[in-house]
Amino acid sequence: MKETQEPDLGLRRFLKGLGLLTGGAALLSTAPWLSSCTPGEPASTKGRKARIALIGCGSRGQYHLVMMRSIAHAEVVALCDDYKVNLDAAHAMVPSARTYTDYRKLLEDKEIDGVIIATPLGLHARMTLDAMAAGKHVFCEKAMALTLDECKSVYEAYRSSDRVLYYCMQRMFDEKYIKGIQMIREGSLGEVVGMRCHWFRNADWRREVPSPELERRINWRLYKEYSAGLMTELACHQIEVCNWAIDKMPSQICGMGDIVYWKDGREVYDSVNVTYRYSDGRKICYESLISNKYNGMEDQILCKDGTVDLTKGVFYLENDNLNSGMKQLLQQIKTRTFASIPAAGPSWRPELQSRFTPHPVISGKVSVNAGQSMVAADNDGSDIILSAFCDACLSGRRAENVVEEAYCATTLCLLGNMAMEEGRTIEFPEQYKIPYMKF
Ligand SMILES: NC(=O)c1ccc[n+]([C@@H]2O[C@H](COP(=O)([O-])OP(=O)(O)OC[C@H]3O[C@@H](n4cnc5c(N)ncnc54)[C@H](O)[C@@H]3O)[C@@H](O)[C@H]2O)c1
Repeated sequence: MKETQEPDLGLRRFLKGLGLLTGGAALLSTAPWLSSCTPGEPASTKGRKARIALIGCGSRGQYHLVMMRSIAHAEVVALCDDYKVNLDAAHAMVPSARTYTDYRKLLEDKEIDGVIIATPLGLHARMTLDAMAAGKHVFCEKAMALTLDECKSVYEAYRSSDRVLYYCMQRMFDEKYIKGIQMIREGSLGEVVGMRCHWFRNADWRREVPSPELERRINWRLYKEYSAGLMTELACHQIEVCNWAIDKMPSQICGMGDIVYWKDGREVYDSVNVTYRYSDGRKICYESLISNKYNGMEDQILCKDGTVDLTKGVFYLENDNLNSGMKQLLQQIKTRTFASIPAAGPSWRPELQSRFTPHPVISGKVSVNAGQSMVAADNDGSDIILSAFCDACLSGRRAENVVEEAYCATTLCLLGNMAMEEGRTIEFPEQYKIPYMKF
């Protein structure tokens, strides 16, 4: 094992920015998982490095390998992929790493503390269970699993083990989301009255296939054997954020899903609209379509006195610059909000005002994911959550609520698919409820 003198500057800078190294206890009630990666005496300065293996060396796996270069308290010691092209590409990035084509053989390697699982969704549960049973700490890509039963098995295995388990729900470690949700929970914008999330792209999600028998392996996202489509690939992040914002779970789910445009033999929807209803009547209105990108990606939390778009790290006030009707009329004339300008009178409806001024949730540079990348945006929390996992591989401290949040988001996404496929409103099933959930 190599020695390091360097503290993990990325993780420490992030925690310092949030005020967590100098108190900041209030923030921990918004994001309790940060408590488990708030170093008193950071594991990273003890001179040990976490020995990490990567299982699944495709696009996300290779992205994590790049991130690992700047995590001083960890080193990549092994790689596994059963597709030679990707294993070779990853090996070229980390030539010192041992290579495996069978992940079970890799799990027998005693010189590994933790594994990163970045394989297709259909393999997440089996690999996570096997890795924990082999005594490894696990960092698994979202979503948790392909079926509700698998989610429950992984959750129960985690509860009865002492291993660290992280899911790569990077918004939970993204400063603009943490600060935005703190603002919402403090009630600064009034009561939350609804949530709207969407993710639009204009791309077929296909990858080039060198030979036809590799179609399902390489384009796994399009087939139900490995993938639950837009709900687990995209919505999972966004549904988690909604529950986090109001600390509650929706109890009813309905929706419609179709293959509208990409009629190319795929099995998963390219267009989904799902409504999640909480017991108090509030709703998440979720939409994803991948044949038009005009609307981009937004996670909007709608409050009585304003709206937060967490994706962009901005908030809008209902009564910002609208303190007089005349001021608003002048603004509408200036911005040509109306095709013809009426004199103030009965037809003038202030609530038609559609221009709001964005205010930043955090100071400094905000990194915004426009929604096009399948891998990630810069500074979206992916590096921080990975760094926190590596730290936990050394300290053995489990991250509070990370598994629970992943479980809630994944089950809701899978239930969204079930509601669309069966064309009915689904009540959250009793057998998949866990004590963490508040309905
Ligand atoms: N958190 C995020 O924002 C984010 C972004 C992108 C992808 N992801 C997730 O990352 C995961 C991987 O996505 P991707 O785009 O990298 O897919 P990918 O197809 O590029 O990579 C998957 C890799 O797993 C390998 N693999 C398949 N079966 C295997 C097996 N039995 N043993 C070892 N390796 C095996 C494949 O050969 C491939 O190299 C998915 O779960 C996806 O949802 C998350």
